[in-house]
Amino acid sequence: MDLSQELLARLDSLRATLAGLSAGEGLKRLTEKFAGNIAFSSSLGIEDQLVTHHIFEQNLPIRVFTLDTGRLFNETYTLLHKTNNRYGKRIQVFFPKHEAVEQLVNEKGPMSFYNSTDDRKQCCFIRKVEPLNRALQGVQIWVTGIRADQSGARQDLQLLEWDEANQLIKYNPLLDYTLEDVLEAVKALNIPYNPLHDKGFVSIGCAPCTRAIAAGEDFRAGRWWWEDNSKKECGLHAR
Ligand code: ADX
Ligand code: SF4
Repeated sequence: MDLSQELLARLDSLRATLAGLSAGEGLKRLTEKFAGNIAFSSSLGIEDQLVTHHIFEQNLPIRVFTLDTGRLFNETYTLLHKTNNRYGKRIQVFFPKHEAVEQLVNEKGPMSFYNSTDDRKQCCFIRKVEPLNRALQGVQIWVTGIRADQSGARQDLQLLEWDEANQLIKYNPLLDYTLEDVLEAVKALNIPYNPLHDKGFVSIGCAPCTRAIAAGEDFRAGRWWWEDNSKKECGLHAR
């Protein structure tokens, strides 16, 4: 058996191990089995801030990284700085390859993502997906802040699942949390969060591709709002 087959074979027993545990406990339990091979990708969104808290507060051996696309909100950079200071840790930052960004912007201009879904996906690939692939090198467990009720496509996800594209196990510790659960925990634990969340931005990505939503609008209505619902994934979570 090669490494990824061995990993896949452990999925069922891991599911049993984590059943019924809270996010903080689940993360801790996983580190007992995979220390050094776990990484958490944080967009610095409110869900991710809760996961970061559990990791940093418990001093868990989980690498926390963010993908800096170069197009994030100022508030997001301020939050990165604040979070590092609060926990006395450094969230690792991955950047896109400068040659690829230069070529893209010089050929298509700084706003190519509004041209077509293909152009938008090209930008997401260069600025997020390629850096993610590098960030996940050698990782066996990839932790995310995904919640099931964020979108229709996320509803059938599992707490632990096999990620075929990256040949690793993906762990979504907040899968069954509602937004209210997350807000409550963030307030109770006094976790720093992006002030844009208080201005109608529920799901926060790059500045030119994110807007606030109105009451009653879908959770992801503020992301790539000019595109069809069916096309709205950036490729980080390809299935
Ligand atoms: S996206 O695919 O639409 O961009 P979303 O913003 O909902 O994703 O975030 C879902 C999860 O993807 C986050 O909890 C986080 O694990 C990961 N993620 C998204 N954007 C980033 C980023 N810029 N850096 C690191 N991880 C990210
Ligand atoms: Fe580019 Fe927008 Fe994707 Fe960010 S979200 S990488 S700016 S297309």
